[in-house]
Amino acid sequence: MNPQPTASPETFSHFRERIALRVERVLEELLPAADAFPARLHEAIRYSTLGGGKRIRPLLVYAAGACLQVHESLLDRPAAALEMVHAYSLVHDDLPGMDNDDLRRGRPTCHRAYDEATAILVGDSLLTAAFGVLSTPGSGLSPLQQMSMVHVLSQAAGSRGMVGGQAMDLASVGHELAQPALEQMHLLKTGMLIRCAIQLALRPAGVEEQSRDGGALVRYADRIGLAFQVQDDILDEVGDIRETGKAVQGADRSRHKPGFVSLMGLVQARAYARNLLDEALEALSPWGAEADHLRALARLVVERSR
Ligand code: IPE
Ligand code: IPE
Ligand code: MG
Ligand code: MG
Ligand code: MG
Repeated sequence: MNPQPTASPETFSHFRERIALRVERVLEELLPAADAFPARLHEAIRYSTLGGGKRIRPLLVYAAGACLQVHESLLDRPAAALEMVHAYSLVHDDLPGMDNDDLRRGRPTCHRAYDEATAILVGDSLLTAAFGVLSTPGSGLSPLQQMSMVHVLSQAAGSRGMVGGQAMDLASVGHELAQPALEQMHLLKTGMLIRCAIQLALRPAGVEEQSRDGGALVRYADRIGLAFQVQDDILDEVGDIRETGKAVQGADRSRHKPGFVSLMGLVQARAYARNLLDEALEALSPWGAEADHLRALARLVVERSR
């Protein structure tokens, strides 16, 4: 068992590396083997989930857990379940009926490497499996905590969460959105899973969203959730494909997708993201060093080039 990061002043870069490995190992174990029947589907599930991605959402789960002194082993399944939902959202987001992208995490997208029907089924499988992962008995969480996690993840992923944001995104093609509508779209399509990362860590800590601490952490999450998609829009325009591992050079613009860069221009979008970062850091002001990984993650969200 790894020592608790709060027990020693672990640097953020060490924490990030260690958690990424931990998440990889947990996902490896939870996902069916590549040769399990039906093998082509399971191979495609592993292809789409393992060996890539920044793992920002799991990192948020463990960083919030460190802030609230939650044992990491209690966060393994919640963090993996959230990453599975995220991986599913990417597989479906890339489909021809949605963004029609060929490259993801530096490799062919799932429907390119396999086929469209397999990509749809990969998403279906990952979404379903995530709730199985959360509800498995004997994970150290109480049944009530597990039930509450299932609930919060279903809300974040569904038509009033990420999927609703994706619907707004598709409906907005060819239209100009005013800032409030764009913010709402980003908060749903990206922000809800990021808020969920924090909510999953609140459950085993026994902290309610309505409490002072819980409310502050959710405020932090909502600021960086929005900032995350603003930075994604910026990278879509000016990112380097060798770093992002996905389409850049104005892919959104060429599809007539509204985003923060088209709304306010690059300079303003960058300033807006910095402002969101400041607000996220402000929300963490009640905490001391125990929130340092959350602070570093907030900076990473805005300063990343991938
Ligand atoms: C990409 O998410 C999709 C958005 C919500 C903007 P990430 O940038 O976290 O993708 P990976 O997991 O690192 O590939
Ligand atoms: C996708 O937003 C958000 C999801 C819910 C998957 P984007 O369409 O901008 O994500 P990328 O740029 O393809 O990763
Ligand atoms: Mg999209
Ligand atoms: Mg996309
Ligand atoms: Mg994008």
